[in-house]
Formats: sequence, C-alpha cells, structure tokens
Amino acid sequence: MNAPAVSPVLSPGSAVSPSKVVLITGASSGIGEATARRLAASGHRVMLGARRTDRIAAIAKDIQADGGAADHHELDVTSLESTRSFARAARERYGRVEVLVNNAGVMPLSTVDALKVDEWNRMIDVNVRGVLHGIAAVLPLMREQGAGHIVNIASVSGHRVDPTAAVYSATKFAVRAISEGLRQESRDLRVTVISPGLTRSELTEGISDSAVREAVHDQMGIAISASAIGAAIDYAIGQPLDVDINEVVVRPTAQG
Ligand SMILES: NC(=O)c1ccc[n+]([C@@H]2O[C@H](COP(=O)([O-])OP(=O)(O)OC[C@H]3O[C@@H](n4cnc5c(N)ncnc54)[C@H](OP(=O)(O)O)[C@@H]3O)[C@@H](O)[C@H]2O)c1
Repeated sequence: MNAPAVSPVLSPGSAVSPSKVVLITGASSGIGEATARRLAASGHRVMLGARRTDRIAAIAKDIQADGGAADHHELDVTSLESTRSFARAARERYGRVEVLVNNAGVMPLSTVDALKVDEWNRMIDVNVRGVLHGIAAVLPLMREQGAGHIVNIASVSGHRVDPTAAVYSATKFAVRAISEGLRQESRDLRVTVISPGLTRSELTEGISDSAVREAVHDQMGIAISASAIGAAIDYAIGQPLDVDINEVVVRPTAQG
C-alpha cells in the first residue's frame, strides 16, 4: 500500500537544536534510567515517567545534582489519560515536547502451552498499547510544532522469534510495524526504532516461570550495559533534523 504523505516536508539542513525536551517512559530502571542520565549529561531536558514515582524522583534529583535538567511525573502507559497527563506535564514544565522515547516494556516469557493469558495481555497492554498511547499523547503537538522525534524501543526479539518469546516477539514486531507506518505517513517527524539485545536491567525479574527465568539468567552473562542503549538513542537524537536514523540494533558482540 502506498498512501500519500500527510504532513509537510522538512527543509534539508535544518539545524540541530542543542538541547531538546525528551520524554522517557519506563525511566525508573534499566534502559530508561540510563537513557535519562545519558541524555541529560548531553544537555537535553528530560522528563522521566514510570509507576514507581519514588525511583523517578530520586533519579531526577540525582541528575539535577549533576547539573542536568530533569523532572518526573507518574505514568502508567496502559492508560491513555495517564500518558496524556505525562505529556502535558512535560509541556507545562518545558514549553515544548521534542522527543518521546517509548521505552516502557515488560517481558514475562513463557511457552504458549503454559497459557499465561494474563501475562500475554499485560505484554500487549504495555508493549503495544503503551507505545500507541505515547504516540497519541505527543503526535498532535509535534504536528503543530512541525517537528518531533519518536524513538520506539523494540528488541532483537522484534527481528527474530525464539521459543518462550512468541508473544513478546509479537509485541516487538508490532512496535516495528507501527514505527514504519508512522514514518511513511510523516515528512516532519523522525521515527527511530532501537532494538536492544541482551542488556542488564530488571526486565527478567518479571518472568514468572522459574525454569525460563533461570535459562534467561544463564544467558545474561554476556549482557551489555543499559548505557550502551542510551548512547544509541543519544546518537539518533543528535542528528540534524533532516536526518532520520530509522533502525538500530545494539547487541552484545558475543550474542548469537
Ligand atoms: N534488557 C534487555 O535485554 C532488553 C532487550 C530488548 C529490549 N528491551 C526493551 O527495553 C525496554 C526497557 O526495558 P529494560 O530492559 O530497561 O527493563 P526494566 O529495567 O524492567 O525497565 C522497564 C521499565 O518499564 C516500566 N514500566 C513497566 N510497565 C509500565 C507501565 N504500565 N507504565 C509505565 N512504565 C512501565 C518500568 O517502570 P515501573 O515499573 O516503575 O512503572 C521500568 O522503568 C523494554 O521495552 C524492553 O522490552 C530490553
């Protein structure tokens, strides 16, 4: 299908704004936290969102103590209203919303046979609906501004399927499909998909099947630091406005 573009064209060579307002979902741990710290250190103004408000408050305070610009707001990405209120808070705080990092995600891996339907639904709610809610919360404003950048965190599991990851992979394939569709419909918006491989974070703690959790923990010896993903996001954001980094896979050198 070849749908017509619906947004105006951005002029080539548009200047890079040195300091952007960046909203980060799932900023209370792992990749989201590392990204907030990295982007703030690069001079961007960050708004951290997550359900564990004590954590995002402490991280924002830490960033401020290091001289960075950071604030936080409670966020449950499964709720459109909560996600809109997060975006509103960022706009009220900083006046603009230039980048959204749709990072919040869960990964309770299990075989399909285990029929952990509640966990399937939670993955769909956070990893797919959450990403869509993020887009819905910022897109009208970015269209009005005539520019914006949406960075969606997919996974190596959005490029390949493995046993126990059928539903998780489905959600991450969906993130890539949504991103590509949005990109094709846009001429004023940058859309980036970052696909991490094994990365140290709290993600595996949500695996309820102990045998699967143990097997994944055994693989995590080669995992890379979450700051490596933050660096890739920083790179994508730092390009001139007419340069759109669309797909980046960042995985351990030793990952098969
Ligand atoms: N670690 C890896 O190996 C790896 C590999 C590929 C892709 N990824 C992706 O990277 C992203 C970040 O994961 P991570 O590895 O950094 O794991 P993590 O440390 O567990 O972080 C997940 C974040 O998502 C947030 N979150 C979960 N449910 C949420 C909800 N309903 N509303 C708002 N925030 C919610 C959590 O915050 P609260 O619980 O405080 O709300 C937390 O900040 C995920 O999308 C994950 O799928 C990770």
